[in-house]
Amino acid sequence: MNFKINKFRPLRVLIMLLSIISASSWANDDRVSFNSGWLFSKGDHIDAAKSEFEDSRWRKLDLPHDWAIEGPFDKAYSARNGGLPVFGTAWYRKHFTLPKSTLGKSVSITFDGAMSNTEVFVNGNKVISRPFGYIAFEFDITPYLNSPGDENVISVKLSPENYSARWYSGAGIYRNTWLEINDKVHIKQWETFVSTPTITKDKAIVDYKTTVINTEKSSQPVVIKTSIKSAEGVVVDEVAQNTILPANSEHKIQQQLKISQPRLWDTEDPYRYTVVTTVVKDGNAVDVNSVPLGVRKIEFKADDGFWLNDRRVQIQGVCLHHDNGPLGAIVNTRAIERKLEIMKEMGANSVRTSHNPPSPELVELADKMGILLQVEAFDMWEIEKPAVVNGYNKDFEQWHDRDLRDMIKQYRNNPSVIMWSIGNEVMEQRKDDGWKVAKNLQRIAHDEDPTRLVTNGLSMYPDFIDKGMAQEMDIVGLNYKAYKYQEIKQAHPDWIIVGTETSSVVSTRGVYHFPIEKYNKHESKYVTSFDVITPPWAYIPDLEFENLKNNPSVMGEYIWTGFDYIGEPTPYGGRDHGNKFYWNQDWPARSSSFGAVDLVGFKKDRFYLYQSQWTDKPMVHVLPHWNWSEKVGETIPVFAYTNAEEVELFVNGQSQGRKRKGEDKVRLPVSLRYDKSVKYFDSPYRLRWDVEYQPGEIKVVAYTNNKVVSAKTIKTANKAAQIALSPDRKVLSADGYDLSYITVEITDTDGNLVPDADNKINFKVEGAGEIIAVGNGDSATTAPFQADYRHAFYGKAMLIVKSNKGMAGEIKVTASAEKLISSSVVLVSQ
Ligand code: GAL
Repeated sequence: MNFKINKFRPLRVLIMLLSIISASSWANDDRVSFNSGWLFSKGDHIDAAKSEFEDSRWRKLDLPHDWAIEGPFDKAYSARNGGLPVFGTAWYRKHFTLPKSTLGKSVSITFDGAMSNTEVFVNGNKVISRPFGYIAFEFDITPYLNSPGDENVISVKLSPENYSARWYSGAGIYRNTWLEINDKVHIKQWETFVSTPTITKDKAIVDYKTTVINTEKSSQPVVIKTSIKSAEGVVVDEVAQNTILPANSEHKIQQQLKISQPRLWDTEDPYRYTVVTTVVKDGNAVDVNSVPLGVRKIEFKADDGFWLNDRRVQIQGVCLHHDNGPLGAIVNTRAIERKLEIMKEMGANSVRTSHNPPSPELVELADKMGILLQVEAFDMWEIEKPAVVNGYNKDFEQWHDRDLRDMIKQYRNNPSVIMWSIGNEVMEQRKDDGWKVAKNLQRIAHDEDPTRLVTNGLSMYPDFIDKGMAQEMDIVGLNYKAYKYQEIKQAHPDWIIVGTETSSVVSTRGVYHFPIEKYNKHESKYVTSFDVITPPWAYIPDLEFENLKNNPSVMGEYIWTGFDYIGEPTPYGGRDHGNKFYWNQDWPARSSSFGAVDLVGFKKDRFYLYQSQWTDKPMVHVLPHWNWSEKVGETIPVFAYTNAEEVELFVNGQSQGRKRKGEDKVRLPVSLRYDKSVKYFDSPYRLRWDVEYQPGEIKVVAYTNNKVVSAKTIKTANKAAQIALSPDRKVLSADGYDLSYITVEITDTDGNLVPDADNKINFKVEGAGEIIAVGNGDSATTAPFQADYRHAFYGKAMLIVKSNKGMAGEIKVTASAEKLISSSVVLVSQ
């Protein structure tokens, strides 16, 4: 081979570029962020597609951006969609100039997602339209560009519609955008596919496929060099291939490489290699492209669940919607990382990206953190869901093939992805030939990725069997069917089954209602945290644990949901039925309470119930809080959740007896849609004492083998006296995106949380950062997320501070409230 790799050429072009367009972060080899310096205006501006349109008065902002989260909350909007303005028309424009060095290059832009019905114009020319708000798309702008050095204008029109989803979708260019300058010969985005058909202890065979584009008018001799690099940067194998690319063509390349003694990607050790491809033309490296490679073996066994690297792994999964609580739909790497950290701490090892294609940041973080993903495409196919009159069904016929293929191509190299999901509770389950749609979607998925199986969240029992849809699926995904596992399994022993959606308990952090009983709604618009309240189709976590234990061939579950999300404020407002305004009847209830964690990331009691089932590190949790001044002398139920063998409860130092998990069962009220005769479940997963309330303290001590392994105390708090601030991170990166989540607690003089405090707290942030959002987990309030104050909700609030771009230094955060001692904390941005 006779070529020299000039690594620095693409880099040099980009450095020049950086000085002209203000890009903020490097992504994939030769892309730069296209997020900064946009102009925004709500409303339909007839001429905004034209370059010369007068936009000097438009609002300046950097992407990603979600206009709906800015509010205001209003009863005029559907509470099912968060009571926020998620619809309407708005425009984004950006003026940009490319350097002279881009002459003769190919220029494209990628949107990781824009909500929705996107139309893009460059210098007045229509470039692309893409309706689906969750899909990433790339568009070539080369033919529409002015000469390098002259200004260009990109105009983007978004027109998300009302009633288009069953949750809060957000609105705007809410994910990242990228600019890529390429040689006319370059690798096509998302066409690379790396798989490992053989994995043994000694070697992994790596199959590599990609597509190289040549937009030159003449054929081009090139060398395609592919190398595998270890995480430490060592090249472990490399191949090079000489090829002649015909003029104006797309050329497919296939290569085989090998890794000796591969280090596997696993949940415990998410080790990744990188596959780097270099296109060499005239002796120069004209394009460099990298994709991740995790060497891992995944197997799904009808009789024994999911296996990763020859070991059975129980799916302890969570369903997550895409919103980031008070930040809205905007993508933020730290917000997503924190969400995943909290889920891992609960013991979750898997995420279902309900019900739509995720952001690349989530998938990359899952790769890095060893989290298994079920990546889902759609919540709707051809048939509309009740009261979602502008849903994806309108675009399904024209776009499903393209959208599904694009999603799979984008993420098929990510080791975290273990299965694809083509749908959630689609109405086609009930249709005689609905299975044909499922079959076709699964075929498309296999077409783009023969290495993974496909599932589909099925809910309409027995239709999904009687009408034949379940039979078509690689993996039968069951939503809320724990009590049918046995029956279905007996009838279909060869089915691979997973609980794609389970439980759906609702609870509000900090809220306890007595006595413990099932109710549909509570006048407070909140829901008790004793974790017994569910909508009619759902059931308590305990029932799922029990049925999974009794049906070990089922691979596990995905709980609905890990985090609360905006919208769908069940049980308030309504269900999936009735007319569209039905959702607002319990206004201002506007957020879900399904999470094990609330909207801002505070753990609810249910978090610990899952932790007690999903983790081994000794833990014990006790509820409720111990401030019941109006109940002195009355009986209060006290619950403990533990993964230890026994727990002893002490009230003011007096033992209330030891209880043994599994033996001392707790009777919980239940109601099952499919068996109305069942009124309760004796749960072996919780412990309960009924004790007389006296102020003071309760303490739980957990034992295994008669040894104390964990303990927790809750004290009766005195009057609210001060504010306590606890940032999750004190050192931020000065990139304008990094975040610190600062927990704000109202405490008494001894530092005990005052569990019913609702003081208004004012925030001041000075120096190298600013407030990006506030929240408190209250699901029924119209208080804005973008503010410099927040009331505490059951003793707590959250302040989210972001670093300022390019501004290193201290960030001083102060919280104050009337009659309380204020508090401050200093963060560092660097
Ligand atoms: C399911 C649905 C989810 C959510 C959940 C609430 O039926 O798939 O998106 O609505 O119910 O329990």
